[in-house]
Amino acid sequence: MSDILTHIDAGVMTITFNRLDKKNSITSAMYGTMADAVDQARSDAAVRVVLIQGHETIFSAGNDIGDFLNNPPSSKEANVFRFLRSIAALEKPLVAAVAGPAVGIGTTLLFHCDLVYAGDNAAFSMPFVNLGLCPEAASSLLAPRMFGYHRAAEALMLGEPFYAEAAQEVGLVNRVVPPTEVNAMAQTQARKLAAKPLSSLIETKRLMKGAQAQEVLAQMDVEAASFGRMLSEPAAKEAFGAFMEKRKPDFSKL
Ligand code: COA
Repeated sequence: MSDILTHIDAGVMTITFNRLDKKNSITSAMYGTMADAVDQARSDAAVRVVLIQGHETIFSAGNDIGDFLNNPPSSKEANVFRFLRSIAALEKPLVAAVAGPAVGIGTTLLFHCDLVYAGDNAAFSMPFVNLGLCPEAASSLLAPRMFGYHRAAEALMLGEPFYAEAAQEVGLVNRVVPPTEVNAMAQTQARKLAAKPLSSLIETKRLMKGAQAQEVLAQMDVEAASFGRMLSEPAAKEAFGAFMEKRKPDFSKL
């Protein structure tokens, strides 16, 4: 079975992470599949809303670290950046259902969603610093804007998980429900949107995003350049090596 499942029903394209044995971590190929699906959603009249979901125990462990090491995103055209630009620029509504851990891009992709529903077991984290890296997905712009600077600094610099209630408090999540209900709840809300006039939804989203839309794409490019450079620097090498060897990283000299 594919690591990314896509189906269209009642005007909703549902994209599901389906790699439970690796905690729904995302390979370059998976980013490519998702970017293509979002591009299809943009042009396909049968799709009015896109919904991204995981499993009731895990949304996503973020980048597949092994794949990342073997296949680092070396240019703006890398699948991961193509996927991020596709969701940031999607005119149609984007909804997410999150249960369990949402690590790295599992959290940062949510900044590009219009509605986010979370299971009460959701654990969000952006551990880029702990990996010797820097933020991506324009999270360095959007987290401070949404959370306030100090809360964003805590999330992005300490990189510790924050949970469903805190995520709702800072505005990342609309509603918290039991994990077994989150995908169904998000699907219900997505279908409600799909029944509305699409032109009004698109215009409303465009007006709400305003000038921020261009700023977000520009910030993604700036972040991608730093992220790409930092991937081959000693801190990231130590962090990823430690993950693969299942030991704690040692940053004492870095
Ligand atoms: N990349 C590659 N493999 C990953 C992964 C990732 N990001 N996250 C988990 N896996 C793999 C583990 O290596 C393990 O594989 P194995 O069974 O072959 O040993 C399997 O998925 C299960 O992971 P495990 O850590 O045992 O699950 P858990 O339930 O104890 O913890 C997480 C789940 C998500 C909290 C934990 O796996 C984690 O922190 N992962 C790394 C997250 C991360 O740093 N992502 C990068 C962000 S840029």
